Amino acid sequence: MTTATELTFLHRYEPATTPGRPPLLLLHGTGGDENDLVPLGEALSPGAALLSPRGKVLERGMPRFFRRLAEGVFDEEDVRRRAGELATFIREARAAYGLAQPIAVGFSNGANIAAAVLELHPDALAGAVLLRAMTPLAAPPTVDLAGKPILIVSGAADPIIPAADVGALAARLRKAGADVQHETLPAGHGLTQSDLALAKNWLERRT
Ligand code: MLT
Repeated sequence: MTTATELTFLHRYEPATTPGRPPLLLLHGTGGDENDLVPLGEALSPGAALLSPRGKVLERGMPRFFRRLAEGVFDEEDVRRRAGELATFIREARAAYGLAQPIAVGFSNGANIAAAVLELHPDALAGAVLLRAMTPLAAPPTVDLAGKPILIVSGAADPIIPAADVGALAARLRKAGADVQHETLPAGHGLTQSDLALAKNWLERRT
C-alpha cells in the first residue's frame, strides 16, 4: 500500500499488479474515507490500480466530497468547486503515478461527485460506475460525453433517492452521448452482492 499526502487530496494508492486494466478512482459515501472502497475495488477489478481520495468536506466530522444544505439538497456552488478540485487531483495523480484515465466507482455522495465531474470536467474520467447516485446539479452546462461508458445502479427501495431523480440523471447523461446502462435492484441505499456482480460484469466487458 502506498499513501501519499503530497497531492491535493489525502488518498490511498494501490499500484496495478495486472497490466492492462483501467485504474479505478474510488469515491466513498458520507462518513467514509480513503480505505472504505478499496476492498470493493479489489473485488471489482483484481489487479487494477486503485486511487482512493478522502472527501475534504466535513459534516459533523464525517468526510464528504461536497457540502449539502439538507439530505438531497446540495450546495451547488460547492459541488462545482469540489468537482474542479477533484479533477485537478486526478490530473496530478495520473502524472505522479503514471496512470491512464481512470474509471470512477462512486457510492452515494461519491457517486454524486463522480456525476458532477462527468458533467463539468468530462476529460477527467474514462467512465463511471455510479452506485446510488442522484443529480448533483440542477442545470449543468452542455457537455460532450460521447462514448463514455456509465453504469448506474439504483435501489428500488432507496429512501434517500427518488426514482425520478436518478432517472433524470440517466437521461441527461445519455443525451450528452454517454453509453449509459441503468439498473434498478430490489435494494435500499446500501450496497448488495448484486451491485458487486453487476459492476464486476460491466467492468469485465470493458477490459
Ligand atoms: C449526498 O449528500 O450526496 C446524498 O444525499 C447521499 C448521501 O451522502 O447521503
